[in-house]
Amino acid sequence: MTDSGATPRQIYDPVSETPSSYVREAPGIQPPLDFPEYKSTALRHPKQPLIYLPQNITELTGPALGSLAPVGDLDNDLTRQHGGAPIGERTVVFGRVLDTEGKPLRNTMVEIWQANASGRYRHRWDRFPAPLDPNFSGAGRAITDDEGRYRFVTIKPGPYPWGNHYNAWRPAHIHFSLLGRAFTQRLVTQMYFPGDPLFRYDPIFNSIPDAAARKRLVSRFSIQDTEPDWALAYEFDIYLRGPGATPFEEAL
Ligand SMILES: [Fe+2]
Repeated sequence: MTDSGATPRQIYDPVSETPSSYVREAPGIQPPLDFPEYKSTALRHPKQPLIYLPQNITELTGPALGSLAPVGDLDNDLTRQHGGAPIGERTVVFGRVLDTEGKPLRNTMVEIWQANASGRYRHRWDRFPAPLDPNFSGAGRAITDDEGRYRFVTIKPGPYPWGNHYNAWRPAHIHFSLLGRAFTQRLVTQMYFPGDPLFRYDPIFNSIPDAAARKRLVSRFSIQDTEPDWALAYEFDIYLRGPGATPFEEAL
């Protein structure tokens, strides 16, 4: 598969219940699966043509995500999941999940994961010698409401080194996963913070060919959504398709 945007692909249309041909819209929005500057993509990208796997009745009629994974009161507040307050810059992250026409998508599970304020993930494979925070796990989830809105309270993550090239550091970012009506309908992306000096050095951010599309991964500081004397706020809307689509880590 190429990522020129012009390659027809087969996808399953759950409305018509038929496979259909799909041409990626707006070339340049989605990152290529193999991007030499991002070295590990050489190991991960498909080497063979993709195989069409139609969804069957199991995927389409399985239990709704809401009943499988109930979202608790504190799931969207990463600052209150432990006994004490985590260290860092308290931050509200909010936005809407929208389709091509800007129609809100309700009942979508939005999951996030991130490093703590010092740039360390709570994960056994993270060897970055920065401190862990006993009061911060770095994972949360929310379900969009009828207007497609989600909201998290968290700590602004720190940048971290990742060894891709000389003194490579990732810009501060939050990973996002969106689940649709089935587990096979999952989109993954990353949200960044405005004004980060590391953008120009980051091949993951720069793997998205179109500059305007890259900007759509950068959240917007919103003074009116800050909480006085408590938290700053950043808005991040996610568009699933169309010329204004949010870049995702995997093709639709
Ligand atoms: Fe990360």
